[in-house]
Amino acid sequence: MRAGALGVGRYLPERVVTNHDLEKQMDTSDEWIRTRTGIEERRLADDETDTSDMAYEAALRALENAGTKAEDLDMILVATVTPDKPFPSVATILQEKLGAKKAAAMDLSAACAGFMYGMVTAKQFIENAGYQQVLVVGVEKLSKITNWDDRNTAVLFGDGAGAMVLGPVDDDKGILSFELGADGSGGNHLYQGEEGIYMNGREVFKFAVRQMGESSINVLEKAGLTKEDVDYLIPHQANIRIMEASRQRLDLPVEKMSMTVNKYGNTSAASIPISLIEDLEAGRIKDGDLLVMVGFGGGLTWGAIAMRWGR
Ligand code: UT7
Repeated sequence: MRAGALGVGRYLPERVVTNHDLEKQMDTSDEWIRTRTGIEERRLADDETDTSDMAYEAALRALENAGTKAEDLDMILVATVTPDKPFPSVATILQEKLGAKKAAAMDLSAACAGFMYGMVTAKQFIENAGYQQVLVVGVEKLSKITNWDDRNTAVLFGDGAGAMVLGPVDDDKGILSFELGADGSGGNHLYQGEEGIYMNGREVFKFAVRQMGESSINVLEKAGLTKEDVDYLIPHQANIRIMEASRQRLDLPVEKMSMTVNKYGNTSAASIPISLIEDLEAGRIKDGDLLVMVGFGGGLTWGAIAMRWGR
């Protein structure tokens, strides 16, 4: 028995904010944003919608997709750096909203690598403690901590949520291997300060290119697989140039890499599940495909997973 995905769901706010909209707000250009990041537009939540509301919408869809009920969940893990409030956790707010009465609930803070940390944590409880259904949600309302006076960062982020119900699947499916890591010495390169998000883009860029490539290769080695076995790469959607470097490291053609950063910007912990679902819905990912998911973020943190899709 192995832990794998039983179902997935996502939520994206309706409001689309294009690069041209931002041009009217700050000293930037569509051309700069597009060529430096690959982003064309992003979704931003309205004032009434908080992080837990987006998590709830994504969770409902994941439960339906998994063919299960909230009452049957054993655990809820929410990866976010933008909780409704410091406590109670988004996971407990979600537990109440869903009516997931028997579920343990906690938040996880690993920034953009949060969904990888969440999936790996779920795997431990499923494979070592007999948990049958664990809901993992990656969700961010980054717009509420964005410094709208800082063009270096304000153009990059978006809001959204992605959810996955994990449980036992067939031996040859599910999470085959993983790598998680952190380097707290890089904490000053990306953090939330008085004014909102602060980032040293160049330092994070260099770290991301190196770490995404290395971790992808490492999880393949741990699973006894090679680059040739990979059907699909789902990198954290931060910047097309970073994603391209990871794709090239795995010698994959363009059509084998997930790409939604153009439509949704960087949604931090939500970006990997949101992108995964886009590809599932489009039929680009099929049962039995070998997926490599890889993320990096503030902390600094990173995480990668090799996963055989299907139940
Ligand atoms: O989830 C993890 C989050 N973080 C990341 O993944 C970020 C990683 N880093 C990056 O993606 C890139 O470093 C950025 C996209 C943030 C920046 O790209 P870059 O090629 O590293 O640009 P740069 O920092 O070298 O900046 C070049 C210029 C600067 O002007 P000067 O000083 O050369 O005159 C900036 O002031 O671009 C300027 N600039 C902008 N211009 C127009 C910065 N932001 C903007 C903007 N519009 N929005």
